[in-house]
Amino acid sequence: MQPLDDKGFMTLKDLKNLFHKDLDAIHGKAEVQSFVNLVLEYHLDLKPIDIVLSGETTISKSKELLFISIIDRLKKEEPIQYILGETEFYGLKLTVNPSTLIPRPETEELVGWIIADHKHLDKISILDIGTGSGCIAITLAKHLPNARVYALDVSKDALDVAAKNARLNQVDIEFIEASILESTSSKLDVSSMKFDVIVSNPPYVRKLESSAIKNNVLNHEPHLALFVENDDPLVFYKAISNFAVHNLKPKGSIYFEINQYLGVETKQLLSQFEFKNIELRKDIFGKYRMLKAIKS
Ligand SMILES: C[S@@+](CC[C@H](N)C(=O)[O-])C[C@H]1O[C@@H](n2cnc3c(N)ncnc32)[C@H](O)[C@@H]1O
Repeated sequence: MQPLDDKGFMTLKDLKNLFHKDLDAIHGKAEVQSFVNLVLEYHLDLKPIDIVLSGETTISKSKELLFISIIDRLKKEEPIQYILGETEFYGLKLTVNPSTLIPRPETEELVGWIIADHKHLDKISILDIGTGSGCIAITLAKHLPNARVYALDVSKDALDVAAKNARLNQVDIEFIEASILESTSSKLDVSSMKFDVIVSNPPYVRKLESSAIKNNVLNHEPHLALFVENDDPLVFYKAISNFAVHNLKPKGSIYFEINQYLGVETKQLLSQFEFKNIELRKDIFGKYRMLKAIKS
């Protein structure tokens, strides 16, 4: 059989076996199989079927070393998305690095809700607060091409990634570096603007929940994106609701991803800010993970 490169000895089958031998105990067999597929697609442009059919094909020495270094990083439970530097969200390719949260499937559901509600509307303005990789803002800009989309984050490093992702996906977004917790900050130059939609997936994991969080998240994803203090878990929801009271147009809507354990409390908070038609929605796993409300 023709090798992919003439210098190596390890075959694709050997490599696959090495992944399973070194990683199954940590990640489980099915997860490791998905690592093999992702890594070989990214680095050798091979589909899962090619891996099966070309098991005896040898790989080059340099690729062998690269794959061994990837296995070492996976042993340390580094997320595969950071290792490859990319992920997929709502069918779009996005760059990610340790300054950005890795976008989650439940956030795709939230974005799907906003798209379904607004696809027939023209010229709306949207603000995404805590944009991270830009996944929400970019997907909305892509699917609602007449919308003007703004995206805010306190992290300059995350905003750099988000801006790169906007260019990659050919959408025009205005990025703002500011803290939503300091709405008096002169940097918050959206404070005089009115939006049709405000959306946020803010930090919402209480520090007391950290023992239930997997190592790949806890040890590698940005804590700035994840955690809030135990005694004020809705701090971002309060600040954003307060901002939305002033900066949403009448009948404008607010969409939140929420902590599955704090659905009732988050709903109550929105009603204290006199939002109407507050709707909690479950994700595909049956957990309350999203909320929508209308400004009265
Ligand atoms: C849960 S992540 C969400 C990232 C992205 N929107 C997503 O859904 O994958 C929360 C984001 O809020 C940002 N953030 C944290 N504190 C903030 C603050 N005070 N003001 C604005 N953004 C903040 C973090 O940098 C992070 O990107």
